[in-house]
Amino acid sequence: MPSANLFSMNSSADVRPPLEPARLSLPKPFRVEVLETAVSTNAVAAARFQEGESEGLVVVAEHQTAGRGRLDRDWITPARSSLTVSFLLTPQVEVTRWTWLPLLTGLAAASALAEVTQIAPKLKWPNDVLLNGRKAGGILLELVEHQSAPAAIVGIGINVHQAQDELPVPDATSLALEGAAVDRTQLLQALVEAFSREYDAWCGGLDPRERYRDECDTIGREVVVHMIGQDLRGTVQDVDETGQLVVLADGQVHHLAVGDVEYVRRQDQI
Ligand code: BTN
Repeated sequence: MPSANLFSMNSSADVRPPLEPARLSLPKPFRVEVLETAVSTNAVAAARFQEGESEGLVVVAEHQTAGRGRLDRDWITPARSSLTVSFLLTPQVEVTRWTWLPLLTGLAAASALAEVTQIAPKLKWPNDVLLNGRKAGGILLELVEHQSAPAAIVGIGINVHQAQDELPVPDATSLALEGAAVDRTQLLQALVEAFSREYDAWCGGLDPRERYRDECDTIGREVVVHMIGQDLRGTVQDVDETGQLVVLADGQVHHLAVGDVEYVRRQDQI
């Protein structure tokens, strides 16, 4: 049995080691800036763009003091418990197709997580990364203008070491809670490599729709989509060519760009 002293030495400081940027070897043009604290890595990446930084900057924070989630929510994580990362991108792709960026990031996160955890992740439209059906990561796309040229900031948060009581909602999870002891530096390396592959292919004209369909857990489900001032209940038929969710509700087909999807258990699934 460990003594009380040994037990306390083996507490969060040991199991939550700092990121080690010197171990990273990132594909061009990606380069990393690791901050001990940031209000939000998305905000830092946007500021860097406005200061003149170019595509490929990857901002990572050990602790975000006011991390941002979708739909104006917070994204709060204890220091060194997770991976909070933002990519600064200026894709030479029609801006109307930038809606694919968060979905591509989901694909990259899924392949990085499969590589380092051996658990097969799924994606819940639009931007949730699920492990064993529970949310382990989320993605936020923000656009920023500078001298009339836009950039996309794609932020991703992945819960790595959190205990259940450190998560914002009971149905969220972390890699640790799913039984995966993961080195965050290795996960960051795998994430940037996977993102680089997805991003290069998309910039080169490859349509990610088929791959997204394969990884997406939402297609075929009965859902309620919560939107501002409106809920829509129906069956998800597909994700369309712009990445929108296609829902059949009351005999009508809807293409949805935003919304919070709630899965509804059908009678035959209970
Ligand atoms: C969601 O609501 O699911 C999206 C969460 C996105 C969180 C990430 S953490 C890194 C980046 N910086 C932020 O402030 N938000 C994103």
